Amino acid sequence: MSANPVSQPPWPKGYELADFTEIDSTNEEAKRRAEAGAAGGAWLRADTQSAGRGRRGRTWVSPGGNLFATLLIRPQMTAGEAALLSFAAALSVADLLDAFVDPARVRLKWPNDVQLDGGKVCGVLLESSATSGAQVDWLAVGIGVNLANHPGLDEPKTIALSDAMDQVPPSPSEALVHLAAGFAKWLNAYEEQGFEALRQPWLARARGLGEPLVARLPQEELRGTFQGIDEAGALLLETNGAVRKITAGEVFFG
Ligand code: BTN
Repeated sequence: MSANPVSQPPWPKGYELADFTEIDSTNEEAKRRAEAGAAGGAWLRADTQSAGRGRRGRTWVSPGGNLFATLLIRPQMTAGEAALLSFAAALSVADLLDAFVDPARVRLKWPNDVQLDGGKVCGVLLESSATSGAQVDWLAVGIGVNLANHPGLDEPKTIALSDAMDQVPPSPSEALVHLAAGFAKWLNAYEEQGFEALRQPWLARARGLGEPLVARLPQEELRGTFQGIDEAGALLLETNGAVRKITAGEVFFG
């Protein structure tokens, strides 16, 4: 096996990078820096995390070889607008994976999962300042990508990029360059053109459009057909002839 000779995009202009051998959580570090007054536009990457966190209070197991990174930004956005950057994060992970595998193997799953060969290959966790005013003070876009290993879960089934390649997967630092270049592009598109600039590309790669799915919500479970996402990022589920908008929950296909 040899290293994959894909070309690296340039590191995006105006962004800083801080690398750590080990840290509790890159999201936590972003929060510490933001609260200490750091400027936005910094990617924080760690080789391992001792307290990596996932959505819904879960732990994100963080062994060496995978990518653990957080972008700290200070966007001129409300909390609702900033939340839609989870779609930019998913699209950026897809850009990263596209550099190493056939893009047809990469699909996006609402709200912000990326699947490779049908398995969960990454996680996205957005955290922001509590807002008393109209705009968030800061936003931490935390992204973990299974490059070299995965936790071996069945629900959702997990996968690593290395499972889909017959060459050595990229190093976390190499992968971050692809991710950071992609995120800068999608953030710019969102700031200039609004959510439609993310919605359409996201839909073009969405898993299961027009297919049956189960949506597990905090209080109920709904079965229906996946009809897309609306202009606010809500999942559109056709169930019993009506279209329900789902703003939070987990979805399962098949
Ligand atoms: C999920 O549960 O799917 C989201 C997982 C997000 C993990 C990433 S790894 C980098 C950043 N630091 C953290 O502690 N979490 C995020």
